[in-house]
Amino acid sequence: MLSRNKIELVKHSYKAVTAVRPELYEDFYTRLFVTAPDIRALFPGTARAQAVKLEAMMQLALSSLDTPEMLTPLLRKLGHDHATYGVEEKHYIVLGEVLLDTLAAQAGDLWTAEVSAAWFAVVNFIAATMIDGARAMAA
Ligand code: HEM
Repeated sequence: MLSRNKIELVKHSYKAVTAVRPELYEDFYTRLFVTAPDIRALFPGTARAQAVKLEAMMQLALSSLDTPEMLTPLLRKLGHDHATYGVEEKHYIVLGEVLLDTLAAQAGDLWTAEVSAAWFAVVNFIAATMIDGARAMAA
């Protein structure tokens, strides 16, 4: 369960980072494809198109962290869909690391150990719920 404090830290830092850097997700995909070039082949579209989808989903997920009963079924379904795209569990680890690196680079001084730990917990929650959904539907 995510604590209220972690949720608030993530929401606050996200607002601050995206206010100064709206291209955050394009930066993210550039980093992702440099870090893990083999992942590029999974994506049929451009990094820009993908950035728009991930950004929308992250907005929704972050704004719904307080109501996990609504968010969880959505993430489980998304995880199932991802399995059909060929996404494997190990990919979530790479994605999480690159996302945190991207945010840390943008956040500068704002990226304290506490903020970093809060983001780690939230990204883990999102990934774990998606993986749960993929496993449940594969079973
Ligand atoms: C935090 C975890 C993630 C979130 C929130 C997320 C979000 C999304 C969203 C919203 C879409 C568009 C809706 C859909 O097609 O179902 C999507 C598509 C996709 N995602 Fe993710 N994703 C995540 C993790 C990953 C990972 C780890 C990979 C693999 C490296 C990945 C690869 C893809 C691919 C291949 C598509 C389909 C692209 C297309 O058909 O245009 N995603 N993702």
